[in-house]
Amino acid sequence: MQNQINEIIAQRRSIYPKEFTGEKIDKQVLETLLRNANFAPNHKSNYPWRFVVIADASLESWVDKAAEIYQNETASESFNQAKFDKIKHYTQQVSNAIAIVMEREPDTKSIEREDICAVAAGVQNMYLSLSQFEHVGGYWSTGMGTYSKAMFEFLKLNENQTLLGFFVLGVVENKRTEGHKKDFNTFVSYL
Ligand SMILES: Cc1cc2nc3c(=O)[nH]c(=O)nc-3n(C[C@H](O)[C@H](O)[C@H](O)COP(=O)(O)O)c2cc1C
Repeated sequence: MQNQINEIIAQRRSIYPKEFTGEKIDKQVLETLLRNANFAPNHKSNYPWRFVVIADASLESWVDKAAEIYQNETASESFNQAKFDKIKHYTQQVSNAIAIVMEREPDTKSIEREDICAVAAGVQNMYLSLSQFEHVGGYWSTGMGTYSKAMFEFLKLNENQTLLGFFVLGVVENKRTEGHKKDFNTFVSYL
C-alpha cells in the first residue's frame, strides 16, 4: 500500500486535450472522481466545494462560450487565431469538464483562503483518482473563461460562489506518467 500510494502520487500528471481521443468516459468514472473529491479535508466540515458537471450538449455550449469569451475579451493585437481554433477543437477531444466552484455563505466565519485550499485538496483527489483508470486523463484548467463574468453567468453561479477553474477530462490511448520534477529538497527548509 505504501509503495502504491507513493507511486500514484509520483506518476500523477496533467493530461491535456491534445492527447484525448474524443471518446466519452464512463459515468462511473465521473462519479468516482466526485465522490473522492468529497473526502478532501475542509475546515469545520463546511464542504466549500461545488462541482458542476458539463456533459453532452452542454459541452459544446461550454466550448463555444469559452471561445466567444476569448474572442471578446482579448485585445485585437493579442488575439491568436490558433488559440481560438484550439479551444473550438475541444469539442472533438474533451469528454467532460467539471466546473470547480467554491461556495461561501455570506455570514460565514470561515476564512476564504482555507476554503480555497479545501477545494484544491478536492481537485487533487480527483487528479489522484484518475490513476485507477488506465485510459482517462485530465487536468485543472484556469483558462476557458474562468475569470470572465460571461462564464460565471453561463454556469448560473450565484454571488456566494467563485469559479476556480475546470477539471477537463478525456479518453487517452496511453497515459503519460513521466515529467520532470524538481527535487523536493529545493523547497524545504528546517527551522
Ligand atoms: C490552479 C491550477 C491551474 C492550472 N491551470 C492550467 C491552465 O490553465 N492551463 C494549463 O495548461 N495547465 C494548467 N494547470 C496545470 C499545470 O500546468 C500543471 O499542473 C503543471 O504543468 C505541472 O504538470 P503536472 O500536473 O503534470 O505535474 C493548472 C494547475 C493548477 C494547480
